[in-house]
Amino acid sequence: MASVALRNVTKAWGDTLVSKDINLEIGEGEFVVFVGPSGCGKSTLLRMIAGLETITRGDLLIGGQRMNEVPPAERGIGMVFQSYALYPHLSVAENMSFGLKLAGVRRSEIEQRVNQVAEVLQLAHLLDRRPKALSGGQRQRVAIGRTLVAEPRVFLLDEPLSNLDAALRVQMRIEISRLHKRLKRTMIYVTHDQIEAMTLADKIVVLEAGRIAQVGRPLELYHYPANRFVAGFIGSPRMNFLPVKVTATALDQVQVQLPNAQRIWLPVESAGVVAGSNMSLGIRPEHLLSSDIADVTLEGEVQVVEQLGHETQIHIQIPAIRQNLVYRQEDVVLVEEGALMGIGLPPERCHLFREDGSACRRLHQEPGV
Ligand SMILES: Nc1ncnc2c1ncn2[C@@H]1O[C@H](COP(=O)(O)OP(=O)(O)OP(=O)(O)O)[C@@H](O)[C@H]1O
Ligand SMILES: [Mg+2]
Repeated sequence: MASVALRNVTKAWGDTLVSKDINLEIGEGEFVVFVGPSGCGKSTLLRMIAGLETITRGDLLIGGQRMNEVPPAERGIGMVFQSYALYPHLSVAENMSFGLKLAGVRRSEIEQRVNQVAEVLQLAHLLDRRPKALSGGQRQRVAIGRTLVAEPRVFLLDEPLSNLDAALRVQMRIEISRLHKRLKRTMIYVTHDQIEAMTLADKIVVLEAGRIAQVGRPLELYHYPANRFVAGFIGSPRMNFLPVKVTATALDQVQVQLPNAQRIWLPVESAGVVAGSNMSLGIRPEHLLSSDIADVTLEGEVQVVEQLGHETQIHIQIPAIRQNLVYRQEDVVLVEEGALMGIGLPPERCHLFREDGSACRRLHQEPGV
């Protein structure tokens, strides 16, 4: 295992910058997850770390050594791609040992490593099978195993579970988490899956159009997003946003006026906030309250009710706001579409964003952060 550092790393395709001044420190043994919308540059970053893509500007360090010009095979890196190709004519054991044989590793050592990794990945009983006689999840584990036996210092995974069905994804997610705890390898993992990001990561890196929007621990990003982009990206269903106007400020408090003219004091940093300015109030669907237990409420017409069994998502049209507000309640809640419904805003759960998208830091202390 080794640390990885990116210093002002930039990637250009012709005139187009797809990675812009990326600065990132990844500690030894850390599990880092890259998230961001399609096309934001996640795979490009991973491929630059692996050496499959050149770095236009900036430095890449692995274990403290500059790696920009070092060929992929000499970087001590193992990569698992979204689409993993196994050799169909070779057994599981042969697929896993192929790279080591090429590298001239002794037979007894190859056998020992393959057996050890097969044990960890629960593949020991499948070593003699050909890939076509394996399930999708087993094949994916062989692809991971093949990378593991090479004993890379850094493990790169680009959406490794995206081809699997929901149940298998959950199982593999738990296996990867266990693997990381056991092997303590540095892992960099790309995913579109919120649950994978939240549960696997020591640290999440949110990318927006080639730039880092925020780096932090999962609950830190969920509770204290640094900007509107991260606030809207982390969490599902996504955070609701309401246009508001600042009406007053005090030490560690900002008062804003909601679209329905009600005013609410929010416990957020007030430095630099000016009365009269337009801001955006954010509130997560799961943090809205029933209107009878809140001081500040909004009322609107129920447009859509989504029954998921374990929860109900109610889309409410608030007059003067173009977007629907999503209100999420546990369990089955019976509401008619077209009904009028009130919802409450708990001030300590609200986020406030400036016009440039940056957040006023929330001062309410959340557990676990
Ligand atoms: N060879 C290339 N030439 C020109 N542009 C490229 C090339 N490869 C990637 N890009 C562009 O770079 C940007 C980042 O691509 P990348 O594959 O890193 O995105 P991503 O975040 O991994 O997306 P996804 O979630 O869809 O996999 C995209 O806009 C893509 O079109
Ligand atoms: Mg990609």
